[in-house]
Amino acid sequence: MPKKATSNFLREHNARVVWHPMAHPNEMDAVPPRIIVSGDGCFVTDIDGRRVIDAVGGLWNVNLGYSNAAIKQAIAEQLAELPYYSAFRGTTHPRLIELGHRLVDILKPENARRAFFTSGGSDSIESALRIARQYWKVRGQADRVKFLALKRGYHGTHFGGASVNGNANFRRAYEPLLPGVFHLPTPFPYLCIAAIEDEIKFQGADTVAAFIAEPVQGAGGVIVFPEGFYASLKALLDKYDIPLIADEVVTAFGRAGAWFGSRLDGVKPDIMCIAKAITSGYFPLGACVVNERIESAFKANKDALGSIYHGYTYSGHPVGCAAALACLDETFARDFPGNAKAQGDYLLEGFRALAGRHEAIGDVRGKGLMLGLELVADRTKKTPAGKGYMTAIAAGAYEAGAMIRTSSNIIILSPPLVLSRQEATQIVEAIGAAFENTRMSPAQ
Ligand SMILES: Cc1ncc(COP(=O)(O)O)c(C=O)c1O
Repeated sequence: MPKKATSNFLREHNARVVWHPMAHPNEMDAVPPRIIVSGDGCFVTDIDGRRVIDAVGGLWNVNLGYSNAAIKQAIAEQLAELPYYSAFRGTTHPRLIELGHRLVDILKPENARRAFFTSGGSDSIESALRIARQYWKVRGQADRVKFLALKRGYHGTHFGGASVNGNANFRRAYEPLLPGVFHLPTPFPYLCIAAIEDEIKFQGADTVAAFIAEPVQGAGGVIVFPEGFYASLKALLDKYDIPLIADEVVTAFGRAGAWFGSRLDGVKPDIMCIAKAITSGYFPLGACVVNERIESAFKANKDALGSIYHGYTYSGHPVGCAAALACLDETFARDFPGNAKAQGDYLLEGFRALAGRHEAIGDVRGKGLMLGLELVADRTKKTPAGKGYMTAIAAGAYEAGAMIRTSSNIIILSPPLVLSRQEATQIVEAIGAAFENTRMSPAQ
């Protein structure tokens, strides 16, 4: 392949040799994906030279934008010093220890004690599910194996994560999944603590290993729980001695307008899964941070049952840890969670004004810089907008200068946390232009 290949040449080869995650291969061949070649600040540029604001923020992860010099420098220095070493039994390295210390320290209010590193979000979920089952085994309660989760939750793509995912699209092709997983209704828009308690009693609390839930559901359509729901859920789980696994793969490090999504409701999870923004997407890395309750059970165990028999070659990769340390420094120094809240509120206002002008916007919701616009063919019946319309709106927004993401009939936005007021305005204007210029019926 020529070094400076033309866009057509690359598109043709992409269609010939690549399979994309979360896409039908035939669809990607028919409608080639955009080829992104560079990024700066909150912007990305495609191979044809079009520069647009990235209202997707990579994939919920590029919190600090594309040109953070401190992260790039930390990565370069770490590559020069130690490009890789394993964290499996018997070896470790300084950056991993420093990052473990930083995470446990930041999560001190949540009684965090240990960080178990992974190489991404799905890994973190897989590890958290394993840790939860093992926790009960080392405590001598081997019957506690079930997992409870919420419908519309998204927890990555490993078999464990796919099993607790609450959206049929991510399950159907891969069934049968893990047995012993049960899904509860998502509290949208009504509280459902009583339904969850019923299910716990029905299953038998002494058979449940853990409950897994995001503090704000992201990929399921940006579903913001009613205030107090997450805290009520935690109180209920405490009543039945069921650990809470908080899936903070998207929400950790500021995206929802607080350092951690759990803190929005004052919740202290037993296991917290983190990834994505921990390195701002500059390097794959994740972790499960466990609290004193989990740590002490493993500490008290004296036989092989308490050995952690899983892990990943890239668990706590030195380059990822170095990137994460730089990211944390930047996030503390410049209060990006605060900016996420301010710009998120501003964007919500802007989109609500748009909804006043465009019938197709049935609902606008969000928390911090996690935002969702639900598009409908009929507002009163809440009929979802058609696939053709969603594609046309995304194309129109790109044409007007903003990269957006659609999932079924929902526009999902998660721009970088370094977003300025002016850039936020640009996103609203580009999406507004897409609605103005799309002549097609929302039903199509
Ligand atoms: C809430 C949540 N959990 C887990 C994952 C999986 O993370 P990854 O794609 O890094 O494996 C995602 C990915 O979007 C996510 O949104």
